[in-house]
Amino acid sequence: MKIEILTLFPEMFEGVLSASILGRAQAGGLLSIETHDIRAYTDNKHRKTDDYPFGGGAGLVMMAQPIFDCMAAVQGNEPAHRILLTPRGRLLTSERAKELSAYDRLILLCGHYEGVDERVNAIIDEEISIGDYVLTGGELPAMVLIDCVSRFIPGVLGSEESAQDESHAAGLLEYPQYTRPASFRGMDVPEILLNGHHANIQKWRHEQAMEKTRAVRPCLLGTFGKNKEK
Ligand code: ADE
Repeated sequence: MKIEILTLFPEMFEGVLSASILGRAQAGGLLSIETHDIRAYTDNKHRKTDDYPFGGGAGLVMMAQPIFDCMAAVQGNEPAHRILLTPRGRLLTSERAKELSAYDRLILLCGHYEGVDERVNAIIDEEISIGDYVLTGGELPAMVLIDCVSRFIPGVLGSEESAQDESHAAGLLEYPQYTRPASFRGMDVPEILLNGHHANIQKWRHEQAMEKTRAVRPCLLGTFGKNKEK
């Protein structure tokens, strides 16, 4: 998959995308990520990318022109699914991330300041939010989306890093995990994991996942029922 990022702050992406699993995926040719500086596409002499909102109000709005020109230069004539990261978008879920992983090419536009000129929606296919809170810009959300989507690209996770069993895969939060030693500072690993047989371990894990979900995110239990019916 090829991912291109349109941003005013390309330097924010460097360390995050080159480390760990995403770094390995790029080195292995499964993923290619490029950043493009929107400011390079301004057509005014002060290289301004934002201006005051019509109608008044606090903060600045990102101007349409640099974004339109940056998008046109980056996209060229090849198709791409174009996403604007904004708190006004649809919430990112595991399910949506999996669907997005099927695209060959994503272009991510990172909003900043108070927002983006609404006319930019003419060159955007989808608006995505990573949660019901407001960040200073779309850069961290873009990194979250890339990380989340990449895990569903075949080969990105090693066999020991499964995307199947984890929290949200089945609409439940994940069961507790332990590794060696079996006893640590007086805290013991549940007996069933040490000598239980497979079916008992599965049953225990499911009960634990239900219990955790009920305690922390009870609303997900409705989703779990629906997923099972599918
Ligand atoms: N930009 C600012 N806050 C955001 C959020 N929660 N999701 C996506 N983009 C954002």
